[in-house]
Amino acid sequence: MLTLKLLYHLTLILVKRLFIDLLSISCTPDLLPLSRLTLRSYFVILFLYKLSKKGFTLARYARVIGWGKYLPAKVLTNQELERSVNTSDAWILSRTGIRERRIAADNETASSMAVRASRGALEVAGLKPDSLDLVITATCTPEHIFPACASSVQHSLGAKQAAAFDVNAACSGFIYALATACQFIGSGAYNNILVVGSEVYSRILDWKDRSTCVLFGDGAGAVVMQAGDSPPGMLSFALGNDGSRANSIFTPGPCGLSSGPYYITMNGPEVFKFAVNVLCLATRQVVKAAGLDLSDIELIIPHQANTRILKSAARALELPPEKVFINVDRYGNTSAASIPIALCEAAEQGRLKDGDHIVLVGFGGGLSWAAMALEWGSGRRKK
Ligand code: UT7
Repeated sequence: MLTLKLLYHLTLILVKRLFIDLLSISCTPDLLPLSRLTLRSYFVILFLYKLSKKGFTLARYARVIGWGKYLPAKVLTNQELERSVNTSDAWILSRTGIRERRIAADNETASSMAVRASRGALEVAGLKPDSLDLVITATCTPEHIFPACASSVQHSLGAKQAAAFDVNAACSGFIYALATACQFIGSGAYNNILVVGSEVYSRILDWKDRSTCVLFGDGAGAVVMQAGDSPPGMLSFALGNDGSRANSIFTPGPCGLSSGPYYITMNGPEVFKFAVNVLCLATRQVVKAAGLDLSDIELIIPHQANTRILKSAARALELPPEKVFINVDRYGNTSAASIPIALCEAAEQGRLKDGDHIVLVGFGGGLSWAAMALEWGSGRRKK
């Protein structure tokens, strides 16, 4: 990409010089400008030919210029769960690292929480909703089968110019949505895209099933992505799915063969092993594709499901624990919302500096996985 940019700028300079030569030929009957003209024409044609052969496109980077989060006010602690299901704070804390999670109020939905998180992201970005070209919502707990959750978000924000659709890749959904946004930006189709992850898992949990109900929580996180013609921005991504293991974690729906109830079912130990393995593989993959080394990464922001998964992955990657962002203790597993919530907190805590290399990495239902390497920064000059 850089070589192409260099060629592009060189060609521009040569074209400008060509015009100057043409002007000087018309002004002086001298032969020197004429020979310069022939030489420059040759180089311009050669460059243009090479560019066309390479399928020339100008590099467009997709940067995060705004972030926001919304967590419902109601806190549900492990101690409260002890009173309703056969579990203990000690078991939950030692097996998952979770202390408490948030639960949406009766009048809250994935879209209403997404709107709250998005307003925060737009404010940080300093962008008006009508500047958005596209809204993508990653969720598997939308209030409607259709229209999309993103449609409601687009309307509530007043993003009148924006297209809108949802992505469902379970807990990997946010990175799938982010990678999609990067394609629209990279192709030159759109400049400003809102990507939101929002979930109300409290509505698909069997509150009598201790193997699942202690793990999840509700919330939303959002980022605004903007086009830029040089880094910072997205450097590489990797998406994957193994549909043969779809039964490891799933929730049936009203359009399928199940008559309900529509609760989440999970083979915890199997997903655990998959998660540790794929966290390491996908992280290594995007770091390598970005032309970086693991030691160049300042922070990894993984899907927040279980501290034991994250610590095992950090050990396998030989990364110091402080390089892996963890907030699962306060929110539990918020599925597609967990990475944008964590990203937002990392930014708010000053843990992301301009020029930092970071990795986002997720895993979950599908079984799916997704990772992205980014150079952090808005690309705006500091005043
Ligand atoms: O975002 C989607 C991706 N999901 C995940 O990443 C989840 C991945 N899996 C995990 O995080 C862990 O497997 C769990 C936290 C779900 C479970 O931990 P585990 O150490 O794998 O426990 P287990 O399922 O092997 O169960 C061990 C024991 C069982 O009892 P017995 O059969 O040994 O007597 C369970 O019945 O723990 C019991 N148990 C509980 N005990 C108290 C399971 N849930 C609970 C509970 N409280 N809430």
